[in-house]
Amino acid sequence: MKKILVSGGAGFIGSHLCTRLIKDGHKVICLDNLFTGSEENIAHLKGNPHFEFVLHDVEFPYEAEVDEIYNLACPASPIHYQHDAIKTIKTSVLGAINMLGLAKKTNAKIMQASTSEIYGDPIIHPQVESYWGNVNPIGIRSCYDEGKRCAETLFMDYHRQNGIRIKIIRIFNTYGPRMLPDDGRVVSNFVVQALRNEDITIYGSGAQTRSFQYVDDLIEGMVRMMNTEDEFIGPINLGNPCEFSILELAEKVIELTGSQSKLIFKPLPHDDPRQRKPDITLAKSKLLWQPAIGLEEGLRRMIEYFGKYRS
Ligand SMILES: NC(=O)c1ccc[n+]([C@@H]2O[C@H](COP(=O)([O-])OP(=O)(O)OC[C@H]3O[C@@H](n4cnc5c(N)ncnc54)[C@H](O)[C@@H]3O)[C@@H](O)[C@H]2O)c1
Repeated sequence: MKKILVSGGAGFIGSHLCTRLIKDGHKVICLDNLFTGSEENIAHLKGNPHFEFVLHDVEFPYEAEVDEIYNLACPASPIHYQHDAIKTIKTSVLGAINMLGLAKKTNAKIMQASTSEIYGDPIIHPQVESYWGNVNPIGIRSCYDEGKRCAETLFMDYHRQNGIRIKIIRIFNTYGPRMLPDDGRVVSNFVVQALRNEDITIYGSGAQTRSFQYVDDLIEGMVRMMNTEDEFIGPINLGNPCEFSILELAEKVIELTGSQSKLIFKPLPHDDPRQRKPDITLAKSKLLWQPAIGLEEGLRRMIEYFGKYRS
């Protein structure tokens, strides 16, 4: 049994990770300031003697004896990370420093939940880990993108300078139960709008592409990555390489929900990437991992989860 700290553990991905780690027989400390996460997301774990929730902001140091750390604390939807951009950068950068400091003190292995956003609006397609990205450093998305890039730098420097055992994963667009219904993330937004028979908002022409990964696939990849040999640190892409245009996603959601919704088009926000698709060759060879849940199956599960919004 390991003692594992999950920062951001009350969020969408974090709550699934905590559940998985408890199921695997570990002790879990879930650290969260509940900015975008909620106690409801972890309600099923409360009362479990191996689970502890600590209300804490990663901008400030935290002390505990732990074997492993998953650093997920950071708002992930543009609405939330742009709400207080300075706070977002502090969360990424100071959060990384504080979690790396804890790893150094306790000799824990630590994983950074990085993002495909570090590739920006990519010129290389699909994105391979060796690609350095095309990121605007002064735009409205920069607080998130550059914060995450700086966190990767910090992880590498703590590894090179202090010998900290690190793992860096770059997560591509992930969806699943416990996403918020209204935080602007495309899969949850479309499903809820379709269930309510409201207009489905498409930004731009809808020709921009994304690849959508179901959360269970991501969690499997994260756990496999954490358990690789110490020499393998990443970065490694974790995402589903099946690419869809936003228009195709909207049409699929309407079909599966049987919705009466109409599509409406609004201007594309600044710096919205035109295309995104992970190259997962490295994950396939190093983790023997690839996504198992296709878009249609994943959407069916989302539609069931958001069923209460059906009008
Ligand atoms: N969902 C995706 O598609 C995706 C893609 C790439 C990367 N990621 C990364 O995965 C992680 C989890 O994302 P998510 O989709 O679950 O988002 P989320 O917003 O649901 O979860 C983030 C969690 O971090 C907590 N948090 C935020 N600031 C904090 C702070 N200062 N101190 C302590 N806790 C704080 C929030 O309350 C929330 O519980 C994030 O780091 C995100 O950048 C997610």
